[in-house]
Amino acid sequence: MRLRARVPITRGMSEPAPAKRLYIKTYGCQMNVYDSERMADVLAPLGYGVTDDPTGADLVVLNTCHIREKATEKVYSELGQLKRLKQEKPGGMTIAVAGCVAQAEGEEIMRRQPAVDLVVGPQAYHQLPELIARAHRARGERLSADFAPDEKFDALPAVRNPAGVSAFLTVQEGCDKFCTFCVVPYTRGGEWSRPAEAIEAEARALAEKGVREVTLLGQNVNAYQGVGGLAGLVRRLATIPGLDRIRYTTSHPRDMDDALIAAHGEVEALMPYLHLPVQAGSDKVLKAMNRAHTAESYLRLIERIRAARPDIAISGDFIVGFPGERDADFEATLQLVREVGYASAFSFKYSRRPGTPAAAMMGQVAPEVADERLRRLQALLDEQQQAFNAAQAGRTLPVLFEKTGRHAGQLVGKSPYLQAVHVTAPDRLLGRIVPVTIERGAKNSLAGILELEAA
Ligand code: 5AD
Ligand code: SF4
Repeated sequence: MRLRARVPITRGMSEPAPAKRLYIKTYGCQMNVYDSERMADVLAPLGYGVTDDPTGADLVVLNTCHIREKATEKVYSELGQLKRLKQEKPGGMTIAVAGCVAQAEGEEIMRRQPAVDLVVGPQAYHQLPELIARAHRARGERLSADFAPDEKFDALPAVRNPAGVSAFLTVQEGCDKFCTFCVVPYTRGGEWSRPAEAIEAEARALAEKGVREVTLLGQNVNAYQGVGGLAGLVRRLATIPGLDRIRYTTSHPRDMDDALIAAHGEVEALMPYLHLPVQAGSDKVLKAMNRAHTAESYLRLIERIRAARPDIAISGDFIVGFPGERDADFEATLQLVREVGYASAFSFKYSRRPGTPAAAMMGQVAPEVADERLRRLQALLDEQQQAFNAAQAGRTLPVLFEKTGRHAGQLVGKSPYLQAVHVTAPDRLLGRIVPVTIERGAKNSLAGILELEAA
């Protein structure tokens, strides 16, 4: 992920802060994207400005993901390359590992790669300035895996410098669901919700800086515990002037309550898109995953959501090759996908994570079998996504223009259904929500033309 370079912050009246270069590489989910931005906010008063090139950076932060083995292994190979850059950098380079791998295997990282100066978990990155100072003095604790999300949020700077018109906003962290495949309850801790006042203040400040869309983040965002639950929070944020679009992710089917479903039918700012992972379509597998829902209960839930908001785009996550998954179980997943009709989806091959209950289960699936199932599932999901996008042709959709496109004179925006839309349009429409007539939909994006009044 690339963060846009920021204007260096000046300290005091006369003394400009030294220009130090900070390179952050982000892996994994949107919460890590949010955390990376906040780490840059924490480091800005120390004189660090963000760069998009690690060569010559004074401080490199890898914000890591532990969800699957592949994501974890990437960190170690990246560190090998950084070690060489560090050796070539006169004046030195500080290397920090943050995020979920830092939380899960901090000691091991320091042992395996001595070029790492410090390690900081996802609930402790407000301590970065102190950890950096200690690492530079080459003494004291260089690892913090503290679990104090409230302290972290209290310590983060109130001012954010949003990189665009759409911003992430963490409202909830952690997970108490303990799906048997998942490391998140161990890396991010138990479910914890931020106070609604703090969230509203952050959202208002973002809107004042031109943000038009916020995506509320949480590992179980619909388990948000503030007064009125997530529905109450959405209604509260919908009153903020300028904040025209609200989204939230990721949700658990178990926490999709009536109030939230009703909000989808009633709150105009709440976008018609819902990421609601089901993981599998076989009840036997769902039970072994400890998902606390069946295929049938998920389908009924989707029906109720669609009754409230008929055009809602449904997205999901899937795992194939979970221990004990037989051909018939996998067929049940395909059947569920056919019944739901997904607008988009993410599907993964089961990855055995040390310490999780599923890692010790009988019936681990052969990699070739899992590969083949993944290929078939992705082909079906791709077909559905393509069909959903193609079905927009001829409709006029409100598009929030977020950035310039690859071609001159082109802008890229988002439809209410989270589709990227390419349109020939003047730059002055950046940050505005404008009606666009969709001409065609491809697998990953739509193409449209401006309605006459906007052009
Ligand atoms: N193996 C494969 N996929 C996983 N996910 C979580 N844990 C694993 C694992 N061990 C997937 C789930 C989840 C998404 C974020 O990542 O589908 O919803
Ligand atoms: Fe990765 Fe999950 Fe941690 Fe996000 S919360 S960084 S997806 S392990």
